[in-house]
Amino acid sequence: MNLIIMGAPGAGKGTQAELIAARENIPAISTGQILRDAMKAGTELGNVAKSYVESGGLVPDEIVIGIVRDYLVSDACKNGFILDGFPRSIAQAQALEDMGVKIDAVLSIEVDDARIVKRMSGRRVCECGASYHVDYNPPAVADVCDKCGKALYIRKDDKAETVINRLETYHSQTEPLLDFYRERGLLVAVEGQEKVEDTTELVREALSKIDK
Ligand code: AP5
Repeated sequence: MNLIIMGAPGAGKGTQAELIAARENIPAISTGQILRDAMKAGTELGNVAKSYVESGGLVPDEIVIGIVRDYLVSDACKNGFILDGFPRSIAQAQALEDMGVKIDAVLSIEVDDARIVKRMSGRRVCECGASYHVDYNPPAVADVCDKCGKALYIRKDDKAETVINRLETYHSQTEPLLDFYRERGLLVAVEGQEKVEDTTELVREALSKIDK
């Protein structure tokens, strides 16, 4: 399955992408996580990305398009992939089409802005990529990752004012992609629920109906 997951910041893209990836045994490619890893490692990519990510804007198209292109031609993606957080602009979607990669479906997880703000304040993440929520998806031991045992922390871009900017960026630059994919008959929309497992069930049901 070649799947794109869309949704506002904090809609649950990463959470659902990891679950689908484990179920389907395909990689989930999160451009946000790739950029955060590069920022942490202090690479040239990370240094360029930092100001965009930390202010809640989009990293320039040509940079993320290059990253995704490299992943999609790698062996890891030969049996399918999930794109989490890409494309995020019409230019990125067009570049993906130009790569000639067949997309089976575009899953949009829909959550309203007020619930997003509430969710982001409770998110805790691990450097291994795992993500939790203090109320909705807590780790077994508070502030410790279930997967690798490291200490959890709050993402810098989860500050309230940055979340507002990220939502604005989503509505102005990314939301138009819903029509782009609706016109191509690829859009599958699911309403994000209050509980992770309820959203997972809706996603599973929606994806069971798509042609692969
Ligand atoms: P990215 O990392 O993609 O951030 P995002 O889109 O803002 O999404 P998040 O990771 O914040 O949230 P999510 O939807 O994955 O939700 P999650 O599952 O964690 O990008 C970060 C930045 O990188 C961007 O702002 C941009 O600067 C840059 N960037 C990335 N891609 C780019 C691109 N293509 N082009 C240009 N720039 C790019 O869930 C959120 C929280 O809610 C968690 O705590 C979770 O446990 C909880 N939760 C999840 N589901 C539920 C549920 N159903 N009920 C209750 N709680 C839930």
